[in-house]
Amino acid sequence: MLGAVDTLPRAVTSCRCRYLFVCLLAFVVTQLLIFGAMFNRKCPYVSWLWRGCSTKKPLCPLISPHLVGGVEVETSVPAWQTIEDNYPMLQNGGRYQPPDCEARHRVALIVPFRDRDIHLKIFLNNIHSFLMRQQLDYGIFVIDLEESIPFNRALLLNVGFLEASKVHDYQCFVFHDVDLIPENDHNTYSCPEQPRHMSVAIDKMNYRLPYTTIFGGVSAMTKEQMLTVNGYPNKFFGWGGEDDEMYNRIKYHNLTISRYTGDVARYKMLAHRRNQENPRRFDLIKSEKRQNHSDGLSSLEYRVIGRVQRRLFTYIRVSVDQITGVPGH
Ligand code: BGC
Repeated sequence: MLGAVDTLPRAVTSCRCRYLFVCLLAFVVTQLLIFGAMFNRKCPYVSWLWRGCSTKKPLCPLISPHLVGGVEVETSVPAWQTIEDNYPMLQNGGRYQPPDCEARHRVALIVPFRDRDIHLKIFLNNIHSFLMRQQLDYGIFVIDLEESIPFNRALLLNVGFLEASKVHDYQCFVFHDVDLIPENDHNTYSCPEQPRHMSVAIDKMNYRLPYTTIFGGVSAMTKEQMLTVNGYPNKFFGWGGEDDEMYNRIKYHNLTISRYTGDVARYKMLAHRRNQENPRRFDLIKSEKRQNHSDGLSSLEYRVIGRVQRRLFTYIRVSVDQITGVPGH
């Protein structure tokens, strides 16, 4: 009996002890959570207190609600300042992320360029609003070659691929002629499982594909696809053939070309004089085949001689030492 009375205060003490221990544990856990939140950059202390612990934007919808379908191409040639004023939401270097959702695609547009300021103005004035409506995380890279060197579209595309990859973790690369303006924003600038030829139907070609293996004009490839095929060839100076060689590389690596239908993948081509054709392009294509398409990203050597981050685009100018097969070089 006496023993039972004796044990009563001890039971009360041990119960209090357990209570204190639980309180202490709860306090320590709470402190750890608060400090964890304070040191987590994505979830700073203040926002954690006020907004809950998530500042991450939701993923953008599969189909952007901002798409309008067919668009009228704006062919006026505004002043640079006017175009820049149209796009205050751009980050320097022609980069953009949708403000209210996390983009599904990180896309670099690579635009090979030579002395076509008017086309560049029209292109940028149209393409930014087009890409914004598609809710992409994108950047526009205009790549130019030193004037004394004959134009080489493919080499510039390789340079753009490498330089844009240094700036951001782009997954998708759209190689884009400056004189082609898309006419329908359902033509999404993303990269599917297979390389995508995008300029399927061009007004100057009566909206018809000239031949089924064509891969020029506008085309999209993932980073992996570009690395797999070793990029574009570097030896195609002058007009033509480089896209046919890319088609051969795609085929050689058991990839295929995908396309949207011609009612969506429609483009307006701006008037221009065609560059001088490269008469050696067919021989070059044969020689690339013999060498298993080994000339490309792996053998590319270039020097960046100019880089400017403008509001509407990143401009990169390069020079190369190896100029093969061009008279006078
Ligand atoms: C050239 C290609 C060009 C195509 C369409 C071909 O002869 O080799 O580079 O894209 O014509 O104009």
